[in-house]
Amino acid sequence: MHQERTAIYPGTFDPLTNGHLSLIRRGRELFDRIVVAVAAETPKVPLFTLEERVQLAREALGDKDSGIVVESFDGLLVDYVAKRGARILLRGLRAVSDFEYEFQLALMNRRLRREIQTVFLMTDYRWLYISSTIVKAAAGLGGDIRGLVPECVERSLREKYAQGGASGATPCLDPSAGDFALSGKKHA
Ligand code: COA
Repeated sequence: MHQERTAIYPGTFDPLTNGHLSLIRRGRELFDRIVVAVAAETPKVPLFTLEERVQLAREALGDKDSGIVVESFDGLLVDYVAKRGARILLRGLRAVSDFEYEFQLALMNRRLRREIQTVFLMTDYRWLYISSTIVKAAAGLGGDIRGLVPECVERSLREKYAQGGASGATPCLDPSAGDFALSGKKHA
């Protein structure tokens, strides 16, 4: 009998980009179910609230594929994965610079719960240079980000910056905080 395979795709998703979407769709070709798990606990200072990040991801993914669900989680990722009855974590790799952080994260998660395996997919070359941070940096300065993020995300970014909502949270423009990195990896 075919055992259903669920992969958890965790992230901050602040906000979800077309790079994430591409990875989710490709992951879906390999797994019966992808759970896009939006983290409450993240080392970043998000521009969007947890509810907004979940809502944007849901809107971008639509409801055509019942094999893709979006939910939030708090606390330790591996505990959430175990509670969900899953054993697979899905992550994307863009550039070599992603590797060190991803390797650390995967090893730490495995140390915390041995039964959980991390599976990596290479990001499509079209999204190699994209990160949520760089998209926010461009949008914050009025740059055209069409084609890089889903329409709902583009709209929300425009609204957020028009409201001045980013005033306390433009980490991407503060290199001294170690927050501007093309790879999007800025975990000290
Ligand atoms: N295409 C384009 N961009 C991509 C991408 C892809 N396929 N995959 C990742 N990225 C980018 C993201 O946009 C993001 O950019 P940013 O740094 O500019 O925001 C960056 O790569 C990585 O972000 P994301 O995939 O959202 O993951 P994250 O590193 O923010 O997520 C968690 C980290 C949430 C998985 C981690 O903090 C966590 O597990 N938290 C829960 C608490 C916990 O268990 N902590 C202990 C962990 S050992």
